[in-house]
This record gives sequence, structure tokens and C-alpha cells, in this order.
Amino acid sequence: MTTPTADIGLIGLAVMGENLVLNMESHGSTVAVYNRTTSKVDEFVNGRGKGKKLVGAHTVQDLVASLKRPRKIMIMVKAGSAVDAVIEELLPFLEPGDILIDGGNTHFPDTTRRAKDLKAKGILFVGTGVSGGEEGALKGPSIMPGGDPEAWPSVKPIFQAIAAKVDDGTPCCDWVGPEGAGHFVKMVHNGIEYGDMQLICEAYDLMKTLLGLKPAEMHDVFARWNKGVLDSYLVEITRDILAYNDPDSGTPMVDLILDAAGQKGTGKWTVVSALDTGTPLTLIGEAVFARCLSSQKDERVEAAKVLSGPKTKYEGDPKTLIDDIEMALYASKVISYAQGYALMNAMGKEAGWEINNGGVALMWRGGCIIRSAFLGKIKEAFDKNPKLTNLVLDPYFTGELLRAQEGWRRVCAAAVTNGVPIPAMSSALAYFDGYRSDRLPANLLQAQRDFFGAHTYERTDKPRGQYFHTNWTGRGGTTSSTSYNV
Ligand code: ATR
Repeated sequence: MTTPTADIGLIGLAVMGENLVLNMESHGSTVAVYNRTTSKVDEFVNGRGKGKKLVGAHTVQDLVASLKRPRKIMIMVKAGSAVDAVIEELLPFLEPGDILIDGGNTHFPDTTRRAKDLKAKGILFVGTGVSGGEEGALKGPSIMPGGDPEAWPSVKPIFQAIAAKVDDGTPCCDWVGPEGAGHFVKMVHNGIEYGDMQLICEAYDLMKTLLGLKPAEMHDVFARWNKGVLDSYLVEITRDILAYNDPDSGTPMVDLILDAAGQKGTGKWTVVSALDTGTPLTLIGEAVFARCLSSQKDERVEAAKVLSGPKTKYEGDPKTLIDDIEMALYASKVISYAQGYALMNAMGKEAGWEINNGGVALMWRGGCIIRSAFLGKIKEAFDKNPKLTNLVLDPYFTGELLRAQEGWRRVCAAAVTNGVPIPAMSSALAYFDGYRSDRLPANLLQAQRDFFGAHTYERTDKPRGQYFHTNWTGRGGTTSSTSYNV
């Protein structure tokens, strides 16, 4: 048997896998590679990987044999049963203390299950989010690992070497928490990405519909915004998209693209987690539903023939409206991140994970799709107060919301008056107004519940935790049903 030479193995030479291998190799690791269709191993080792410190393996047994101990194997295959299949294939060749890392788009409960099953076999399992697409994987992704903490010291140097770095050189990779915490945080990242994208689309729609701006003019607006509080990757690519013309017709490309959005499900998973934990994650929820509504294109075309709305007539100063839209987008984004962090805190509590909030902001600060200057401010907020209950209560963000709210309200009012749908911006404002209310109309709601179902209520003039029932009609009995709190 040959002496093991490889520092890490990687299974699954699709786009992300290949680029991660090249990234690891360029940062000093010798990488062993395997792929189910073994011709891809040879193509890669003799193609993009030619002359590099790679070991091509044609069986998982050969891959395992080529690895230094403790063995570290990163699995980059299709999420779902393929991950289980690869683990099953590997297990006979592994020994206690070996480390398996799933870097695919796995749903976090699967990672929790695998971490528990493998722990019982002495194998250390890590589930990690990897964000940044093809280019990120090659040049520096955001990496969000969670799982068995015993694995972290061995994985840390490799991951932190290949991760994106922020300006001071800090890597966008840190330990997130146990079990499925890494994949969970990656899922929330994707949910936030849905929200950010929807907000940008609403800003675009407002400028287009209320002001009649052309893509080239909006390109200039986004270019300016990208130098201010909205400085981010998604604003930057929007700027560039708006300047791109179809080479054949010269028409702005964005005007030629059908308005029916696709989705792969991570936004939905995020919203389902929010419903499961009772967390108001309204903006991301609206962003997911906005994609669903957009995809009902044929139905909308029919509905548009009969459901007329107000005639669009915006008479205010265009420059003021553009500045207001910037504030509406910014304030709504603060709300979306506040809601996303609230979800992470709720899940952290429920699952017993201590999620590293500041670390998460840092991991998202560079390399990934939602990277932005703004995340640096979130990191500062959690550094100042790691136990912050809601981001909007951090003094910096409180000040920013108060500064933005006038413009934000004007935008929502103009949109409603003129019939422009802005589900994300308006739901963010509704959350803001709800969260800052020390009294909501839920007193009436509790009365309704008690009226029809004897669900009981608490009273403002009695201590919390005491439940009362009223015989509202004189007909019902005095028996009350057990109450449950969402
Ligand atoms: P893509 O990312 O291009 O959509 P994919 O179907 O998600 O492709 O597959 C990504 C990787 O998972 C590939 O390396 C694939 O191996 P093949 O090249 O042999 O198709 C791998 N993969 C998918 N299902 C697998 C399984 N059940 N066992 C092992 N590897 C699998």
C-alpha cells in the first residue's frame, strides 16, 4: 500500500466540487478526488487539474487510502439520498476519528440526523454551507460549517485558507454551531437573499412605473446607491444588468426577460422554519410568495384584462422619490435581517445550538451572494451586545430606521395609491409598526377565540399567567378549553 499523501479528499466533481478542489490546492493542500462517473476524475486531473497536487481515485477505497489521518473527506454531491449513498459507500473504509464533511445544499434536519448517526459510529460529521457560486468556490466562498465540534480544529485551517477574506484579512468562515447549524445558517442566508432580491425588484418597479425611468437611467441610480448604505453585491449586479443590452436587438436585456421567477426551495424551507418556530419572518415570506405569484403568468395576463386599478399618476418630485425609495429599500433590508436573526435565535434556542451571531455576520460579509458593507454594521452590533434580542434595538440600527422611516412611509403610500405591488417593503413597514406597538388588537382576537372556543384570555388588570373565560352569550357553559401559545 502506498503512503497516504493527500490532506483532504473530495467526492463529486461537479461545478462547485471542481472549483473547491482547485481553491484548496492553490492554498497548499494536496487533494484526492473521486467522482461516481470516474471518467470525470481523469478529465479533471488531466485537464483543469493538470500539474497540480491532486490524487485521482477511481474507487472510494482508493480515495480513503490516499488520505493522511485523521482523514477528511468533503462530499459535494447532489443533496438528498445521494449524500446518504456516498456515506454508506465510504463507511466500511473509515475508522473512528475520521471526518466527513457535506458541503452540498442539504436541508439542515438531514445534517442533524447524519451527525447523530455518524457520531454513534465514531465518525465526526460536519455539514457546511458554501456560498458564492462557481467563482466564489474557486476564489473565496463564504463557508458556514457546523456539526461535531471535535472536527473543527482539523478542518479550520483548510477552510479558513480558502474562504473569502474581508478587508482586514479575516476569513468569512467560522464555526457556526452543532448538528445542522451550519446548513441551517446557509438556508437562512438563502432566505435573506430572496428578500434582498425582491426588495431590489420592488425599487426597480417603483422607478419604472411611477417615474417611467428607462433601464439606463436606473443603472445610474443603482450605481449611486452602490456607493452608499446599500453597497452590496446584489445592488452591484443589478446596476450592471440594467446597462446590458441584447447584442442582437440593442434592447435592454432586462426588458426581454419573461417575468416568471423560478426557485429551488431554500426560501421556502426558511419560511417553513419560521412558521415552525413561531417567528415573524414576514419579508422573506412575501419574497417567496412574490415569486409564486410571478410564476402564475398566464393567470395574471387574464386577470389584468378585468381587474383594473388606479391610473398611475405620480406628481411629486422624481429626485425626492428616488431618495425615498433608497430609504425604503434600506429600512426594509434592516427589518429583513432583523427577522432572519430572530429566526436564527429562535431555532438556536429550540435546537439547543449556540449560534454565533457576530460570526454569522462576518461569514456573510464577503464571498456570498448577500455580501454587503451593511453586514459589517451587523457584526459591530453583535460585538457590542452578543445577546441582542432584535437587531432593530441596536442603537445604530434604531437610528437608521428612524432616519429612513419618513421616506419609507411616503414610498409605501405612493405605491398603494398608484397600485404598484410592494409586498416586501410594505410588510416590512407593517412589522416595524407592529414591533414598536406596546398594544396590538390581539385583545379583541383573544375575545373572539374565547367567544367561539372558550380558549381563555389573560387580563390587563391581573398578573400574566392567569387565564380567564367569559360566558359571552349566557348560553355556553363555564368549561374552558386548554390554551396554547404560538
Ligand atoms: P449538477 O450539480 O451539475 O446539477 P448533480 O446531478 O447535482 O449535478 O450532481 C452533482 C454531483 O453529484 C456529480 O458529481 C454527481 O456524480 P456523477 O458525475 O457521477 O453524476 C454526483 N452524484 C449525484 N448522485 C450521486 C449518487 N447517488 N452517488 C454518487 N454521486 C452522485
